[in-house]
Amino acid sequence: MDIAAYLRQQKEQIGHESRQVKDFSVFDFNYIPPQPVVRMECKELIDEMLRFEVSGIASHYAVIGSRGSGKTLMLKYLQRIMPGQTCLEFLYANCRHHNTSFKIFSHLLGGQIAGGSLTGLYDRFLQKYRRKTVVVLDEVDLMSPKDKHREILYLLSRSEQPYMIVMLSNSPHLVKQLDAATRSSLQPVPLHFKNYNAEQIHEILRDRAAQGLHRWDDGSIAQIAALTTRLTNADARVAIKTLKYTVTKPGEDLTNCFERARRDIVVDMVNDLSDANLMILWAAATSKSDLAKEIYQRYCRFSQTQQEKPFSYVYFYSNLSYLQSVGLVALVSTKVGRTYTNRVLATFDTSIVDSLFKLRFG
Ligand SMILES: Nc1ncnc2c1ncn2[C@@H]1O[C@H](COP(=O)(O)OP(=O)(O)OP(=O)(O)O)[C@@H](O)[C@H]1O
Ligand SMILES: [Mg+2]
Repeated sequence: MDIAAYLRQQKEQIGHESRQVKDFSVFDFNYIPPQPVVRMECKELIDEMLRFEVSGIASHYAVIGSRGSGKTLMLKYLQRIMPGQTCLEFLYANCRHHNTSFKIFSHLLGGQIAGGSLTGLYDRFLQKYRRKTVVVLDEVDLMSPKDKHREILYLLSRSEQPYMIVMLSNSPHLVKQLDAATRSSLQPVPLHFKNYNAEQIHEILRDRAAQGLHRWDDGSIAQIAALTTRLTNADARVAIKTLKYTVTKPGEDLTNCFERARRDIVVDMVNDLSDANLMILWAAATSKSDLAKEIYQRYCRFSQTQQEKPFSYVYFYSNLSYLQSVGLVALVSTKVGRTYTNRVLATFDTSIVDSLFKLRFG
């Protein structure tokens, strides 16, 4: 093969495929649009932040919504605009990347603080943030089991300084899963972000197209929006990725683009799972039985081969709930003999988990 000729040919081909695109960054999931499509649920949050600014008395919030429902975007957007219009300080931490109270404080203090105690760090936090401060904790259910009590929530909600906590999560069980002492001092107000409807997804895609494309076909955008709401939990990520494929692979069938995008998003999601959650998902996807108890046995056996102490059944089950909340499995209550038990059904092509599992665990 003549590599130079191949390079020339591909350069031309890829240039041709990208002709429609003015700005690729609109397909980046971290892109913050100049004006996101408005979510009415946000008004409550904004009003509460403004009341907090005036009174210094905080109501804490648990924002719950399925994947791709705009939780992170909305709070990041508020972080961008609030400080200019109010005197609130606005802090954001993602608990997937900073998964213990210690690491979150260290991150919010601006660095990698290695030694010392949690109370020491908390004291530094109190010194640094004396103003009214909103603290957003994204993906809060991904805090490590090592920090079972999620002490940061307890500390901030008991503080005499004015802090308002906003937790973001996929899990409708989030508030129930907090420990009793934290729940009673935090008393979070649940705020549900409903799944987008087809018109909202359509609007999101049209905005992206207007920002990032030279031209687009509104009919295709409507079709992507319809597929996304019908076949996913209205995950805006799938819609955005499908749009990218339809414009960078001209001629490819739209439903193929959609299926590819959907598969990519599942791969990303499975790849992002912790080792324990990946083991649990793998056990569910490859077990001969779909009964939760038997999947638990399979998970325990594998965990032991990895010299890992397996979770208790209760903790295993709360991890299954997490996998359900991100849409990877469905838990269905069923009667076996005289008792009720749960069946665990994978909601995607299970070959994905098997191959990613082999990559991670050999
Ligand atoms: N209202 C909106 N306007 C414009 N873009 C949006 C809107 N809602 C979501 N998006 C886009 O969809 C993608 C997914 O949104 P986001 O990351 O905020 O979802 P999420 O609810 O945080 O999902 P997860 O639970 O997986 O973290 C992002 O690229 C985001 O920019
Ligand atoms: Mg998010």
